[in-house]
Amino acid sequence: MTDVIDAILNRASQPRLALPAPDQATLDTVFECAARAPDHALLRPWRYLVIEGQGLAALGEVFARTVDDPDNPLAGDKEKLRRSPLRAPMIIVGITCYKTHPKVPAIEQTMSSAVGLGYVSLALQSAGYGVMWRTGALAYHPLVHRALGLTEDEAIAGFLYVGTAESEKPSVPRPSVAEFVQRWPA
Ligand SMILES: Cc1cc2nc3c(=O)[nH]c(=O)nc-3n(C[C@H](O)[C@H](O)[C@H](O)COP(=O)(O)O)c2cc1C
Repeated sequence: MTDVIDAILNRASQPRLALPAPDQATLDTVFECAARAPDHALLRPWRYLVIEGQGLAALGEVFARTVDDPDNPLAGDKEKLRRSPLRAPMIIVGITCYKTHPKVPAIEQTMSSAVGLGYVSLALQSAGYGVMWRTGALAYHPLVHRALGLTEDEAIAGFLYVGTAESEKPSVPRPSVAEFVQRWPA
């Protein structure tokens, strides 16, 4: 087995995360991995935000404000929303940046961005960190988009909660390959 295959076979999300978060040198390498995502027509339809420290508290305030948003109020416990970014010492926001191109529909740009965020997740876990990819209604809320500086042509692919795993999550059962792979024609 190669290191890459080992890393993939050992990948698992970790919801309980604490300090330390990755340092800048690790992040630089991780984002170089993100830039290896397959990318039809080289549109580079992605960018990332790194949030830590006071930024996490500020993001919590943004999340809490969605409950009172007059246009699109989010059902939820305001205090819980305020605290939710504090579940990890770092959040990486993966953003899809849609470009107009005659041969590359939006879905392909979503996929390219998601592959990149997957590489970020895998690279961080290979470097010894814990990661959990989260979205939920907050990822699609206009108030959150505005606060994070997204344009009308951008969307959130995911919030990667990042840190050091405090305890290993019980492993998720994986389907057997025969359940989801067939030959065609049969
Ligand atoms: C696009 C995307 C969004 C997700 N959003 C959430 C989420 O909001 N909350 C959550 O608990 N898990 C979410 N997950 C699933 C977890 O990240 C994780 O993959 C799942 O719990 C299975 O665990 P595993 O990664 O160890 O297989 C999301 C996964 C993806 C790919």
